Amino acid sequence: MEELRPCETRHGRARKLIPKDSLSRGRARETASSAARKPAAAAAGRSRSLRVMSSRVQVPDTPGLRKTRGAFFTPAPIADYLAEWAVESDPQARVLDPTCGESVFLEAAGRKLLEAGADQGAIRRQVIGVDLHRDSVETSRALLERRGLGGTFLVEDFFALSPPDCLDARLEPVDAVIGNPPFIRYQEHAGLDRKRSVQAALAQGVRLSGLASSWAALLVHACGFLKPEGRLAMVLPAELLSVGYAEPVRRWLRRRFKAVHLVMFERLQFEDALERVVLVLARGSGGCNAFTLVPVQDAEDLQTIRIFGPMHLNVAPAHEGKWTDFLLPVHQRQLFDRVVSEHMVSLDSYGTPSLGTVTGANDYFCISEATRLEYTIPERLLAPISPPGTRHLRGLSFGKRDWEKLRDAGESVWILRGEEPTLLRADAAGLKRYIAAGKARGVDDAYKCRVRDMWWRPPLVTPPDLFFTYMSHRYPRLITNSAAVSFVNSMHGVRLRVNAPKLAKQALPLLAFNSATMLGAEIHGRTYGGGVLKMEPREAASLPMPGPKALEAAWKHLAPHRSALDRQLRQGLWTGVVKRVDEALLHQACRLSEAEVTDLHAAARSLRERRTGREILPEDD
Ligand SMILES: C[S@@+](CC[C@H](N)C(=O)[O-])C[C@H]1O[C@@H](n2cnc3c(N)ncnc32)[C@H](O)[C@@H]1O
Repeated sequence: MEELRPCETRHGRARKLIPKDSLSRGRARETASSAARKPAAAAAGRSRSLRVMSSRVQVPDTPGLRKTRGAFFTPAPIADYLAEWAVESDPQARVLDPTCGESVFLEAAGRKLLEAGADQGAIRRQVIGVDLHRDSVETSRALLERRGLGGTFLVEDFFALSPPDCLDARLEPVDAVIGNPPFIRYQEHAGLDRKRSVQAALAQGVRLSGLASSWAALLVHACGFLKPEGRLAMVLPAELLSVGYAEPVRRWLRRRFKAVHLVMFERLQFEDALERVVLVLARGSGGCNAFTLVPVQDAEDLQTIRIFGPMHLNVAPAHEGKWTDFLLPVHQRQLFDRVVSEHMVSLDSYGTPSLGTVTGANDYFCISEATRLEYTIPERLLAPISPPGTRHLRGLSFGKRDWEKLRDAGESVWILRGEEPTLLRADAAGLKRYIAAGKARGVDDAYKCRVRDMWWRPPLVTPPDLFFTYMSHRYPRLITNSAAVSFVNSMHGVRLRVNAPKLAKQALPLLAFNSATMLGAEIHGRTYGGGVLKMEPREAASLPMPGPKALEAAWKHLAPHRSALDRQLRQGLWTGVVKRVDEALLHQACRLSEAEVTDLHAAARSLRERRTGREILPEDD
């Protein structure tokens, strides 16, 4: 076969995306995309189109050679997407592609800089490319000149370049690192090259094993060129998420960057590489607890995704282990996305979740009726609360009777709320004794108490309309606060907006038992060790809840059965309740087909089971 210049590869073949329905057509696509550029050649078929291209061959570069140096070229829509993240509309941004090939990324970055208002003359200093393949660099240089952009290029082994904090550095720190490093397996990535790359990664604090492919060291070394607030935008093999040798890279990504987003493709995106890829978008420094996974079908979807949109899964994985466990098939996520955008609103639009009182020592500040009587503290110097913990909140509401039962059972149903002048009153003697007892125990030394004006007076929050259980094994729940009591930070509170529908206070706790909301909780919440699902107020705020119309329609069906369903929940029989709510809300009110409801249910269940690491039996409590 005649040889192709890499330049043909990029502009003819690799720029073409694989059509959604033709993953296995293999190299036939080469002809199709070349033909798209040259209709005459297309008519003549594959061999002719290759001949047309090969007539311009000046420098030999075979597929074998390209494979050896990991030269697979990135489709333009992917490069554009990454360039947008890298430049971030900053006309001053300096962007480095450490293995630039024929500069699909640098060209995209140059265009984004122009759009951002960069000075055309300055772009050649802002756009920096390195590649060890001289012809690729020459092609890049010429291409960027032709586009009126220009760039700074080095023909170098990138591992021979020291990061900017070294004495022999040749490059200044950059705002963004962009690119698609070579994917060369360890068997071929050997000898001196390997040694140098491993040392470069080690200099950034990452110890790679002998099994690591070339991309791992390149990624880590390249980030050594970033400013502290800099951005990373790279195409990496999807094995980053799963293979053992990438474990140190996963750990490093979490501790190196302030935010990490991963865009995962369901389909192959490179015609000439059988590698699944993931886009890694990261920024800042200092480490992050969680990152976002964004599954998409292919590069066409990139135009529609928004980081933090409903498609995204916030993941706080264990410190060790692979990162792919949280994924759903795209059709389920798309169904979820559609249901959310057509029928749901965020919890925040009914009311904002907020934190409960942080006492600093619940076992002191939250007291039982027996302690109250022992110290003869009048009720008016205390406030009634839902006791710490959430085990007692099993039903749809927490009423006065529930509170009284807990009081009689010896639970901590009161919290101190004395105010300074109160202490001067005659009936405050008991409270004073209790404060003295706390001091004797050293409660005033606890951090949260030390930093308060008056250590013994925790900042009491006003009673919310609803409670929200934010740490859960199964699912987060809303509970109507019919008792109108205050609460501590073992849950969140939701105060309904003045314009929230009247029925929201009663209806939301029951309607939250639907599969779309439950799936939303898995997607928006964070998973912690032991499979616990945690939702901070910001994440709880984004939990999808039935919109007002759907809420009202479903409530009509469910209101007559509320007491019976409440009883079922209190007995731990929750799956029957979910079925009933799914039927009323998703099927009858939102008009989803039974198959769609089943799909959402299965999706919520599979994420929940993956999170907890076990099958949850129908009425498992
Ligand atoms: C996967 S290609 C990517 C090219 C381009 N960024 C793109 O996506 O179209 C990898 C490129 O890395 C270059 N390369 C491989 N090892 C390198 C190294 N150690 N230093 C610099 N460039 C290298 C190859 O010559 C090739 O052009």
